Amino acid sequence: MTTPPPPTIAPAEGKLGVLTVGLGAVASTLIAGVELVKRGQGKPIGSLSQMATIRLGKRTEHRSPLIRDFVPLAKLEDIVWGAWDVFPDDAYVAASRAGVLDAGKHIEAISDTLREIRPMPAAFERKYARNLDGEHVMSGVSKRDMLNRIREDINRFREEKQVDRVVMIWCASTEIYIEPGPAHQTIESLEAAIDADDETVSPAMLYAYAALLEGVPFANGAPNLAVDAPALRQYATEHGIAISGKDFKTGQTLMKTVLAPMLKARQLGLRGWYSTNILGNRDGEVLDAPENFKTKEESKLGVLEDILEPAKNPDLYGDVFHKVTINYYPPRGDNKEGWDNIDIFGWLNYPMQIKVDFLCRDSILAAPLALDLVLFMDLAQRAGLGGIQEWLSYYYKSPQTAPGLYPEHDLFIQLTKLKNTLRWMMGEEVITHLGREYYEEL
Ligand SMILES: NC(=O)c1ccc[n+]([C@@H]2O[C@H](COP(=O)([O-])OP(=O)(O)OC[C@H]3O[C@@H](n4cnc5c(N)ncnc54)[C@H](O)[C@@H]3O)[C@@H](O)[C@H]2O)c1
Repeated sequence: MTTPPPPTIAPAEGKLGVLTVGLGAVASTLIAGVELVKRGQGKPIGSLSQMATIRLGKRTEHRSPLIRDFVPLAKLEDIVWGAWDVFPDDAYVAASRAGVLDAGKHIEAISDTLREIRPMPAAFERKYARNLDGEHVMSGVSKRDMLNRIREDINRFREEKQVDRVVMIWCASTEIYIEPGPAHQTIESLEAAIDADDETVSPAMLYAYAALLEGVPFANGAPNLAVDAPALRQYATEHGIAISGKDFKTGQTLMKTVLAPMLKARQLGLRGWYSTNILGNRDGEVLDAPENFKTKEESKLGVLEDILEPAKNPDLYGDVFHKVTINYYPPRGDNKEGWDNIDIFGWLNYPMQIKVDFLCRDSILAAPLALDLVLFMDLAQRAGLGGIQEWLSYYYKSPQTAPGLYPEHDLFIQLTKLKNTLRWMMGEEVITHLGREYYEEL
């Protein structure tokens, strides 16, 4: 198949409004981090868009610019923040409460800016996250009213902050598990379900739909159904609005999508993979409810099967026991500890084990992904790439793909795809890694 011609990319002129749904640990760490980087008080470590280079042309050409110098991304200086949350805390209070960043070093230094970011009342219903009890919500309103009010919020934000473009990113709590059903199939059925206050239409879907109706790209950092509902996917494609999801790939699943491809690359067998976590932040508290954990579990469990393809490798992967648990344990706050016990086997079936103990910081890992996503979603929109942005799979545990297409989970294939998409967008040759030319020219 021939490569399609590169798109025309509109310049990143003016301000980029970033609306975060949720102003909790991830969103406040993202905002504080960007504000510190802007002032030269920190480095955007973990952000591919800010730190990584990209090789162009042949290896002998030695062309490897920074990605941010190569593609026309919005500048961090041009980002303007807005948010919704169930609690009225401004970004200063949210960041202090989340306990991720050092107050003296990283919060006080930008306290004035953080205090100015006050969340709008949330479109929220307790039945979708019963462990959350906040009062800063659009109260007593129907789903139709919520949808309209989110649209009004977007437009008011646009006018008040004088932003030229807007991107929305879901950094709110994980909602309960909802299967795609009749309400989610077409825009007509979704509209009817909204009017009927159908409980299979969650707040996340209302935010996503409102974003699309306002021409705003939507990225989903949590595992719940939102912009991946068929009706919204189709709407986004038809109207040329970028969408992507879902569930930031940060700690344990990041490890899994590095280790599992290694096992497969070496044709080592797998008998079992037991993953458990302790986590003490508000996310952990919400996920302590079984209906909410189920959403996360689905997202975490799918990965191994897609990578290992047991049907193609039954001797190695036909009988794998895979278990994932998350335990709410307040003393650890945002500093999650994730353990993996992996039972593998090699030559002549001899068993071996791998143990991973990842003492990570959840929001420190997630914030750079959220930054890259808003910048790349804005780029995709300016490049006229509507619908699913599969090239951003690199950032997600459950990458959204076209219907019928299995997701690619291998982190390094995802990275190659992302970089090739950037090369293609900028009219550079995509890199296949075939490399015959180095030997034919000798
Ligand atoms: N940190 C990570 O490594 C990571 C990785 C993957 C996914 N996630 C997901 O990202 C999301 C955010 O994580 P976090 O640690 O910041 O959680 P958090 O609990 O600190 O923040 C979420 C915020 O969303 C708010 N909220 C809930 N429902 C809302 C609604 N309908 N509208 C507006 N606000 C709402 C909550 O009040 C809360 O302040 C969670 O869903 C989490 O599962 C996080």
